[in-house]
Amino acid sequence: MNANPPINDAILQVEHLSMKFGGLVAIGDLSFRAKRGEITALIGPNGAGKTTVFNCITGFYKPSEGMITLNRSDGSSFLLERLPNHEIPARAKVARTFQNIRLFSGMTLLENLLVAQHNKLMKASGYTVLGLFGFSSYRKVSAESVDLAKHWLEKANLVDRADDPAGDLPYGAQRRLEIARAMCTGPELLCLDEPAAGLNPKESLALNELLMDIKNNSGTSILLIEHDMSVVMQISDHVVVLEYGRKISDGDPKTVRTDPRVIAAYLGVDDEEVETVLTEVGDEEVIEQLDTGPDSAHGPGNSASMLAGPVSDTVGHSNGGERVTVEKGAGKADRSGPRAPDERQSTDKSGGRK
Ligand SMILES: Nc1ncnc2c1ncn2[C@@H]1O[C@H](COP(=O)(O)OP(=O)(O)O)[C@@H](O)[C@H]1O
Ligand SMILES: [Mg+2]
Repeated sequence: MNANPPINDAILQVEHLSMKFGGLVAIGDLSFRAKRGEITALIGPNGAGKTTVFNCITGFYKPSEGMITLNRSDGSSFLLERLPNHEIPARAKVARTFQNIRLFSGMTLLENLLVAQHNKLMKASGYTVLGLFGFSSYRKVSAESVDLAKHWLEKANLVDRADDPAGDLPYGAQRRLEIARAMCTGPELLCLDEPAAGLNPKESLALNELLMDIKNNSGTSILLIEHDMSVVMQISDHVVVLEYGRKISDGDPKTVRTDPRVIAAYLGVDDEEVETVLTEVGDEEVIEQLDTGPDSAHGPGNSASMLAGPVSDTVGHSNGGERVTVEKGAGKADRSGPRAPDERQSTDKSGGRK
């Protein structure tokens, strides 16, 4: 194997991913790439399979079929479906937040961010109580952990509340704290499951700013599940659309928002009926664009559909590109079915490769 493999510009490659729950195909033959340094949005109606994709990427579910490759910036690659769960954050450097907020609500903000760095701190202690008090390495790492926590509290605009219990924060601030906590683990890929759900416009703006800051200044790439289309259209570089577990569109936000299949999926109608429905909701500008095809014009601002929200100026890219060479036998996951979060696989050590 090449000692210095070229760094792949795709941080994440999902190839032919399928996830079945009994007879239900939650994800069917899904392939897409997320580019390094970008914000990739995964959108689709409720039940489309978005959270299931995240659960496969982060090891909560074992895919029925397919391959999920994480390419780190040091050139190493990991087949996530083959990695034991606990190694996905530690070795592959993938962090996530959940659709429902999961914070330690009785702990302060600072404590929440320090708990996230538990592994690093325990390692520095040599896993002994003596180490906690005696090792200078522990004191150094401990001070660094506090600095990192402060850094992300500042970025999330929460430093004034550092000593308050997390449960006392307003909802939008709790969402930002979750993201700050995930960032304290030093991820290369941050997976966010509907971070804007339930936020008011001001909180949504603060979230956008935090995500843009992460994208521009931290070196972390973002995979974002989102329903709030103003968030998706403003900050995403690339959008992948799912419906009934299958990919129906893939491209830059401007292209995706005018894709008739996407409009049909969001309005819950067949392709042929799209124009009728749009006429009913008075979205003439989109109808015009559908007739003429996607162009450089900005889209509508008042649709009841996913088309609402301004278009960001982004450079589109195809979803083709460099492929990873996979070791023999590494292609298919074991078909042992879904696992609950606590039924973690602990024997397969073959996921990582350099
Ligand atoms: N653990 C599970 N067991 C059975 N069905 C599931 C499970 N998780 C998700 N599903 C089903 O898979 C489909 C996709 O769900 P989900 O990924 O949560 O959708 P989304 O996040 O896009 O709303 C839904 O029909 C859901 O009921
Ligand atoms: Mg979901």
